[in-house]
Amino acid sequence: MADQAPKSVLVCGGAGYIGSHACVALVERGHRVVVADNFANSSQRVLLRLQRITGSPIECVRVDLRNRAGLTRLFSRHRFDAVMHFAALKAVGESCVRPLEYFDNNICGTINLLQAMQEAQVDRLVFSSSATVYGDPERVPVDESSRLDVTNPYGRTKLVMEQLIGDLCTARATFRAAILRYFNPVGAHPSGLIGEDPTGVPNNLMPYVCQVAAGRRRRLSIFGGDYPTPDGTGVRDYLHVTDLASAHVSALDYLVRRDASLTVNLGTGRGVSVLELVHAFEEVSGRHIPYDIVDRRPGDVAEVYADPAMANRLLGWRTGLDIRDMCRDAWRWQSLNPAGYEEPTRVRTGKR
Ligand code: NAD
Ligand code: WQD
Repeated sequence: MADQAPKSVLVCGGAGYIGSHACVALVERGHRVVVADNFANSSQRVLLRLQRITGSPIECVRVDLRNRAGLTRLFSRHRFDAVMHFAALKAVGESCVRPLEYFDNNICGTINLLQAMQEAQVDRLVFSSSATVYGDPERVPVDESSRLDVTNPYGRTKLVMEQLIGDLCTARATFRAAILRYFNPVGAHPSGLIGEDPTGVPNNLMPYVCQVAAGRRRRLSIFGGDYPTPDGTGVRDYLHVTDLASAHVSALDYLVRRDASLTVNLGTGRGVSVLELVHAFEEVSGRHIPYDIVDRRPGDVAEVYADPAMANRLLGWRTGLDIRDMCRDAWRWQSLNPAGYEEPTRVRTGKR
């Protein structure tokens, strides 16, 4: 592969929250993108929105990664330089109730994808992993040498997939992978055209706060006010999804230029408490967020934030947007699309 040449990239799960933002970042950097998605947790309307943002249509193939024949067809019709693999089920609670579904979708889907890549001799992979592989970390900030210790079936699928990919890197002399461990991605593209669109009651903090601000939910429940943190609420490393998306393009560049594999944390390196996030959101949105402090959520830990030094050093990547930017862009997406992708949007320009 020539170093600076545009790459042809298959984006598995590219209709989803993070994958759609990665498509924008890839197209903006001149790469060609084909999305593969089964739309299990996304809408086809994303593709039109992507076209409006990037100014060019994005080819999309509806396929489930567990469909081996479908993948073979896809790889025989295109010559890809690299794959970005976002396609997974990701709800921690649901994974505890339906572990087999998670193992099947995430692990079997990944094995199929890796086999199809091997068959087609596509040797570059950028993989969505998660800080969940650290479980309850022994110390913060969490660096990549921290003990891996998953606490739920979703996390186990991420750890197994990391290991499968690592084994393939060892076995295939030409295969290179970037394993990216995301901390807490939030926010939305500044256009307000794409963003996170959870089905049902949101599990995660930012979408829940957005829905309270929009009047779709009455009050936020803050899970625990007695953690050993400065204000007693849980601390996490929130990062803007557009910063996260740009890390994927940097990782792709790294795989091509350096011809080496890597595993890195992606976060800001700064912990933000639930109350800090709520107050930042109130400030930028002008909306009041009523809340109750309730019992801790089982399985939650007090404080997790990244040491992103390795990503800074190897990828030359660092986050540029802060918690106010994240809240403002999440709110813009929510207020322009009160029912997510189910409703026509009111369009604004992409100015911050
Ligand atoms: P998402 O659900 O919005 O996107 C995943 C996409 O993959 C969806 O469009 C879904 O339809 C598709 N998909 C799922 N299974 C598939 C299959 N078998 N075949 C084809 N398509 C399939 O999730 P997201 O938040 O964009 O997350 C993307 C990746 O990042 C996931 O792997 C997730 O585990 C990981 N991750 C997410 C977070 C987070 O907080 N959002 C944090 C850490 C890691
Ligand atoms: C953040 C903080 C909650 C909701 C999860 C997954 C993780 C990763 C990202 C995929 C915590 C508190 C939340 C609410 C609250 N996903 N909270 N009220 O738990 O850090 O990570 O998403 O890989 O695997 O576990 O994120 O947004 O759910 O919670 O008080 O209604 O907000 O207790 O302190 P979490 P979150």
